[in-house]
Amino acid sequence: MRLRFLYIALICLFNQSFSQNYEVKVDSLMQLMTLQEKIGQTVMYGGHWDQTGPFVGADNGKYIREGNMGAMLNAMSAKGTRDLQKIAVEETRLGIPLLFGYDVIHGHRTIFPINLGLSASWDLKMVEESSRIAAEEASAEGIHWTFAPMIDVSREPRWGRISEGAGEDVYLNSVIGQAYVRGFQGDDLSQPNTILACAKHYVAYGAAQAGRDYHTTNMGEGELRNVYLPPFKAAVDAGVETFMSAFNELNGVPTSGNKFTLRDILRDEWKYDGFVVSDYTSINEMIQHGFAKDSIDAARIGMNAGVEMDMMGHVYRLHLQKLVEENKVPEAYINEACKRILLAKYKLGLFDDPYHYIDEEREATTAYKPEFLTKAREIAAASSVLLQNKNNALPLSKHTKKIAFIGPLVKDESDIIGNWAAQGDRGGKAVSVFEGISEYLNSNQILYAKGCDILKDDDSGFKEAISISKQADEIVLVMGEDHHMSGEAASRTDLKIPGIQPKLIKKIREANPNKKITLVLMNGRPLNLSDEVNLVDAILEVWFPGTMGGSATADLLFGTVNPSGKLTVTFPRNVGQVPIYYNMKNTGRPIPESNPKEDYKSNYIDVPNTPLFVFGHGLSYTEFEYSDFKLSSENLTFSKTIEASITITNTGNSDGHEIAQLYIHDKVGSVTRPVKELKGFQKIFLKKGEKKTVTFTISVEDLKFYNSEMIYGVETGEFEIAIAPSSDFKFKYSFQLQ
Ligand code: BGC
Repeated sequence: MRLRFLYIALICLFNQSFSQNYEVKVDSLMQLMTLQEKIGQTVMYGGHWDQTGPFVGADNGKYIREGNMGAMLNAMSAKGTRDLQKIAVEETRLGIPLLFGYDVIHGHRTIFPINLGLSASWDLKMVEESSRIAAEEASAEGIHWTFAPMIDVSREPRWGRISEGAGEDVYLNSVIGQAYVRGFQGDDLSQPNTILACAKHYVAYGAAQAGRDYHTTNMGEGELRNVYLPPFKAAVDAGVETFMSAFNELNGVPTSGNKFTLRDILRDEWKYDGFVVSDYTSINEMIQHGFAKDSIDAARIGMNAGVEMDMMGHVYRLHLQKLVEENKVPEAYINEACKRILLAKYKLGLFDDPYHYIDEEREATTAYKPEFLTKAREIAAASSVLLQNKNNALPLSKHTKKIAFIGPLVKDESDIIGNWAAQGDRGGKAVSVFEGISEYLNSNQILYAKGCDILKDDDSGFKEAISISKQADEIVLVMGEDHHMSGEAASRTDLKIPGIQPKLIKKIREANPNKKITLVLMNGRPLNLSDEVNLVDAILEVWFPGTMGGSATADLLFGTVNPSGKLTVTFPRNVGQVPIYYNMKNTGRPIPESNPKEDYKSNYIDVPNTPLFVFGHGLSYTEFEYSDFKLSSENLTFSKTIEASITITNTGNSDGHEIAQLYIHDKVGSVTRPVKELKGFQKIFLKKGEKKTVTFTISVEDLKFYNSEMIYGVETGEFEIAIAPSSDFKFKYSFQLQ
């Protein structure tokens, strides 16, 4: 015990002196820098590309030589980054190396499922492994920094960027965000295979009004602190090196000029010491927001609020010097910003060797390593969610005489890797569903028709599709959105499967009233599947599953892998229910269970309040039974924890993973509390017939929230508790905090 203490103390001392050492170095470097050179570090521009790769454009070369650029985005490859770095190191007065950033969002070359999909694995190890692999591949191409993870809680399926996060839950976004940070940054940033992570988009971007991208957000401070801020605090705790301010305004103040969130909360309350970059021209956009009168004003507001690097806006380069001279921006802010940016470069080892990440051989041998592809296949399968499986339509049998595969995404090798797919190949590298199922079936067992396009209205392919559906014993439809329909600037007001695909589904069912039909869906958001649940037997949600998506989908369809993913976002019955999420408030007139249609209750007159598929839902080819719930005590105290446990038995016919979810409900609060809140989960593997007991430890920390005075604490009283397979359950047990 003593030895361990000594060891920990030594490590702390070492780390401290290490970072003090950096600080000393940065301070002495900054003594030599002019104000404009310091401002130069706060400027980021984009790389140039031609058909053969990145090159040094005239303006980039000029800005670097003048010491007017500290970082670049979208510049990569060993050659491209070497050419640029050489200018910074050899042709500037102080030789300060550049920082190269890029959006490595769900993989770099080897593409993993879109982030919303990956979150449905509820598998923190997989999240970390995927971002570790992404960091390996990206860093091998000279990249030092990724603009990820996105940890914007979102309850807004109309918003295209819901695809980039971990869904609607606070706790999940927090722990998943931390797993990404661990994967990207590793435990030693000076290693050339680790990259800086970036917590984005700070903050409340996921609550854009009506789901329209870049739109206004309005919310009380309680909601901000209890729902939208915690994942960012969790990222700070995980050591995330950078933050990105957002595009949206929050309660009338753009988040890229928001002193309250950037200085008061991030710096003063959380003591964050990494640097903050703006989103792409988000400082300038304060002019359109009606918050800055011109670009000089925007630069002033941005820096004074605490945005320390200007992404693509040109406003810091052009105006900060004068603003400092006129005492409109304190010089201390420029010094702080420059220091934090230089510290990040030190931590990456760039001052020891600016070419440290540039290695042609590593670049040539890292992308798409076989072990990365194997992982991508495993992770894609774990991220898919079996939403419905009527008549045991799935798994398919390899011995079925003929199976018809129909739909615009059966042979697709581009949409399958989703939006924000970095350097993922859209021209043949990804495994299509067709290729995937060809590993399981002989060509004479496979019938194929495209049927229609995702968006076009042309139904001339229906005839062939219907005809082959009639010849088949079973039918698999592979449909969904195209990859441009989610991600940035891809909001939708209609959540239905797009185009004439729903029509084709209907026609195929009409032509085959008794055949088993499976719908495989690729999409970047919750969809309205209210018609389809009645038309098809099984629905397998594979999101945009990535480079190995077709193989993973086939593994699930044929039962080599048992589906285990569960939704991290609610699927509504129709768009009118939005926003709909599992942890809503009860209202003063909740619907009585005995009479859901009772008048003057908080219900709709046209559809039930319940969603189509709840948060946490996901089926398996086996069955799990939950029994024997136990609480170690019905009294929790401020100093002691209690344990909640339950036994889970695999009562079905195959082995499988189950995700057990811990929910708590604070029954009475000084501000009203959600009807239930996820506080933990465990993913376990159970062989057929096997049982295991899962145990959660509960402490007062799990019960804390911000009250109306914005004090973070816990209130005594009764708390309901459950461990359940999804958020659809009724509480039966409770404990007291006295
Ligand atoms: C996005 C960011 C992204 C940045 C750089 C912006 O449009 O909002 O998420 O990191 O571009 O590509």
